[in-house]
Amino acid sequence: MSKRLGVLTGGGDSSAMNAAIRAIYLKAVSFGYTVIGIKDGWRGLVEGKVEELNRESVSGIIAEGGTILGTSRTNPFKIEGAVDKVKENIKKFKLDAIITIGGDDTNGVITKLTNEIDGVGIPQTIDNDIAHSDFAIGYDTALQVVTDCIDKLHTTADSHHRVMVVEVMGRDAGELALNAGIAGGADVILIPEVPYSYDDIIGVINERKKRGKNFTIIVVAEGAKPAGGQDQVVKSEKVDSFGHARLGGVGEIVANEIEKRTGYETRSTNLGHLQRGGRSTAFDRVVAIRLGIKAVELIEDGNYGMMAVMQNGKVTAVPLEMAINEDKPLNEELYEISKLLH
Ligand code: F6P
Repeated sequence: MSKRLGVLTGGGDSSAMNAAIRAIYLKAVSFGYTVIGIKDGWRGLVEGKVEELNRESVSGIIAEGGTILGTSRTNPFKIEGAVDKVKENIKKFKLDAIITIGGDDTNGVITKLTNEIDGVGIPQTIDNDIAHSDFAIGYDTALQVVTDCIDKLHTTADSHHRVMVVEVMGRDAGELALNAGIAGGADVILIPEVPYSYDDIIGVINERKKRGKNFTIIVVAEGAKPAGGQDQVVKSEKVDSFGHARLGGVGEIVANEIEKRTGYETRSTNLGHLQRGGRSTAFDRVVAIRLGIKAVELIEDGNYGMMAVMQNGKVTAVPLEMAINEDKPLNEELYEISKLLH
């Protein structure tokens, strides 16, 4: 049956979202659907901002970073009257089903609205922290960006005989920092899941010095914390509508502390939003396209309340509740590898 399918992108953007939107459009049209682009994440359904997509709207976007639909961190459950507005707009725009592309927050909203509209989620976040999916859209491109930056930092660290600290996004997950650090040959990788100790870090720097290595690269995830129960470092105490503080600044703190304790010249670089922009990698695009197509198939088959995910190279689906409410475990094997490589 022909459906009116809404699509929205929410939360922090990343590089391969447009490849997913394009694939969703093409697959949906092959089923005879009309595709409605919802603007700026959930804000579009609160404020009634939508636009019907056509062949032209998705033309030439496969490689472009960001999202043609726009994004926001809008949580209708935290704005008075917003959930009613969402319900009204679902009726007004005659949406039969919706696909939400985003992280825990964006997909968490559709999980709570399954009585109002049939929905399917797609994981999208450079943090790659969605349970039950090996990959989220945007992660592979960010991983390549961070790895390239670590490569660049190596040459300048080596030339100046410095300790270089590089701060990487990821919120409470160390997946991006861990994989990029391993790929980039970082000597120390600090992740939120394992509190760090300055003695251990300085031990690695000194051990390298003994071997004639006069530079050290330290990757620190923005959510990393020192042992001893201290909080994550935040840029501002203000929290967004999903309750998240803006993380940032731990790299500078770690660099200052290392310099203070050792006297070694230390610099820090925060990669910030560079990790979320630019053209996506081939792998990321293929992940985005496969997940997009799977999401439309789930809608066509009436398999609502599911999230399209990647597991062991295959595209499959798990209940949204499972993907949203469970934490993705740290890859212990990779963490062990990371400790070997300095
Ligand atoms: O969740 C994706 C992410 O990039 C996190 O890694 C980071 O902490 C956060 O978004 C930054 O969000 P914003 O762009 O809203 O400051």
